[in-house]
Amino acid sequence: MAADRPLEGRVAFVTGAARGQGRAHAIRLANDGADIVAIDICGPVTSSITYPPATSEELAETVREVEATGRKVLAREVDVRDLPAQQQVVADAIEQFGRLDILVVNAGILSWGRMFEMSEEQWDSVIQVNLSGAWRTVRAAVPAMIEAGNGGSIIMVSSSAGLKATPGNGHYSASKHGIVAITNALSLEVGEFGIRVNSIHPYSIDTPMVERDAMMEVFSQHPNFLHSFAPMPLHPVNHAGKKGLQEFMTPEEVSNVVAWLASDESMAISGSQIAIDRGVMKY
Ligand SMILES: NC(=O)c1ccc[n+]([C@@H]2O[C@H](COP(=O)([O-])OP(=O)(O)OC[C@H]3O[C@@H](n4cnc5c(N)ncnc54)[C@H](O)[C@@H]3O)[C@@H](O)[C@H]2O)c1
Repeated sequence: MAADRPLEGRVAFVTGAARGQGRAHAIRLANDGADIVAIDICGPVTSSITYPPATSEELAETVREVEATGRKVLAREVDVRDLPAQQQVVADAIEQFGRLDILVVNAGILSWGRMFEMSEEQWDSVIQVNLSGAWRTVRAAVPAMIEAGNGGSIIMVSSSAGLKATPGNGHYSASKHGIVAITNALSLEVGEFGIRVNSIHPYSIDTPMVERDAMMEVFSQHPNFLHSFAPMPLHPVNHAGKKGLQEFMTPEEVSNVVAWLASDESMAISGSQIAIDRGVMKY
């Protein structure tokens, strides 16, 4: 195993991999030596989501960028709400690669509204994708990880909204707090198989999910909600073509943490909640 490829010989399954953070994680894990299993719905998720859906072309671009690292990739258009479809992808991955070591449970959606006003559809879709879909990914993949017998690392993508109150998206916050519960109980269930489970809690990341207009509308209607969304401290970043002080973090900044959690460098860490927030949640 080369020092610059700490994941060589391993296989990583990433959900929501067509764009945004999921794509960045797939590319980073491939750069670190892992073969990749990438799934995404590549289309509209539900009627209450107002930002553009991911596309088949975007998943194809992820495939191209992973292959450019020299690693192999198995990509499928799959909805994480569909357990049999996820189980089929896992079976195909085991047939192709022979093992599964790393799971990045990343697919998710966001919408806005006060909980006492939102529609049932808004509540149900966010819970079904972000929480129940995440469980279905775990349900599909963990038996194969145990069967392969190599241990592994599961990274559950929560949010700052999984650790604190976020008025204006309480359903999203409920789903992301639920990810913490899955993480902590699962870490105890799979520890005996050498599998670690941690949740990550990004603050604002520059992806299509973050609709500045929708957020501004919520804050202009309910200015007191702003206290729960402290501005990011400006940090100089200098990668992924971005230079200078950035108001949002980049997906690649999150991928750095995902890569560390996937690697043996984090061997002592399981059942932890890792904030990726430049410290902003301490306000
Ligand atoms: N952007 C942020 O500021 C931020 C902050 C904290 C946490 N997160 C979380 O990070 C994760 C990635 O989000 P992102 O910022 O990259 O947004 P994004 O919208 O760019 O990416 C999400 C991806 O998940 C896919 N997806 C959604 N529903 C799916 C389903 N049912 N089945 C399969 N794929 C599905 C989408 O098609 C999309 O490609 C999400 O879980 C999100 O909640 C985002």
